[in-house]
Amino acid sequence: MSRTVYVNGDFVPEAEAKVSVFDRGFLMADGVYEVTTVIGGKLVAFAGHMARLARSLAELAMAAPAGEAELLAIHRRLVEMNGLDEGLVYLQVTRGVADRDFAFPAAGTPPSLVLFTQKLAVLERETVRRGIRIALVPDLRWSRRDIKTVQLLYPSMAKMEARAKGCDDAWMVEDGLVTEGSSNNAYIVTHDGRIVTRHLGHAILHGITRKAVLGFAVEAGLVVEERAFSPDEAKAAKEAFITSASAFVTPVVEIDGVRIGEGIPGETVRRLRTIYIAESLATAI
Ligand code: PDD
Repeated sequence: MSRTVYVNGDFVPEAEAKVSVFDRGFLMADGVYEVTTVIGGKLVAFAGHMARLARSLAELAMAAPAGEAELLAIHRRLVEMNGLDEGLVYLQVTRGVADRDFAFPAAGTPPSLVLFTQKLAVLERETVRRGIRIALVPDLRWSRRDIKTVQLLYPSMAKMEARAKGCDDAWMVEDGLVTEGSSNNAYIVTHDGRIVTRHLGHAILHGITRKAVLGFAVEAGLVVEERAFSPDEAKAAKEAFITSASAFVTPVVEIDGVRIGEGIPGETVRRLRTIYIAESLATAI
């Protein structure tokens, strides 16, 4: 069945969803995006995603395509038109259409706005049952990873390198410390039960799932340490996991061929996933 896609004000069949070849998203990767998960036809952590979108736009001096209320209405209409029960809504804003030039187009050039839905199993997943295997790769991305831009070539290459090594995903390493996963935040659990994940800054994306999960961890009485950790510390950890809008909380059972803990999904990660899902279902809109 053909999807209905939103393009610059219109809801159209996907075959008719078109943007200009002069769009700066296409020519310069001059765009930002958000991915919001849908469960039971409802949006998870919508306000958080919109707050981060506003921040990404502001950091790049890019005009907002619409206000939050209008964006919510578009998300909901797309979910409804596509009969989406479980999956995600992808939103992309670019600096719009202009002759190719490194300088930004004149102020007032309308931004482009595209949204589409994608069906995806998020609650029940094979990777959650078995845990994922991680390969470590150098972090060769630009230095403003806190801005959610569509420059995703290196993360794609990192993921392919991990796959070539028989792994599920990559964790990226810079100056001897883990930054994050190719499309997720990275965590370890120490043998005395502390949850460690890289502190916020320009080196990582400020995950919306990260913020929620760390909050739930503290509420559950767990100790959280926001600091960088090394590959060696990760390999010696009791547990490891990732978070993202679509992975929620997913266990890591192997890093660069080294088994983590028992080599099976650990107790802390299972507990955090259960809490996160319960809260997501309760607060989705
Ligand atoms: N990726 N780090 C990176 C580099 C990411 O691309 C993502 C999200 C995250 C997790 O952020 P959040 O919890 O807000 O989803 C961390 C999305 C899901 C993607 O590109 O598909």
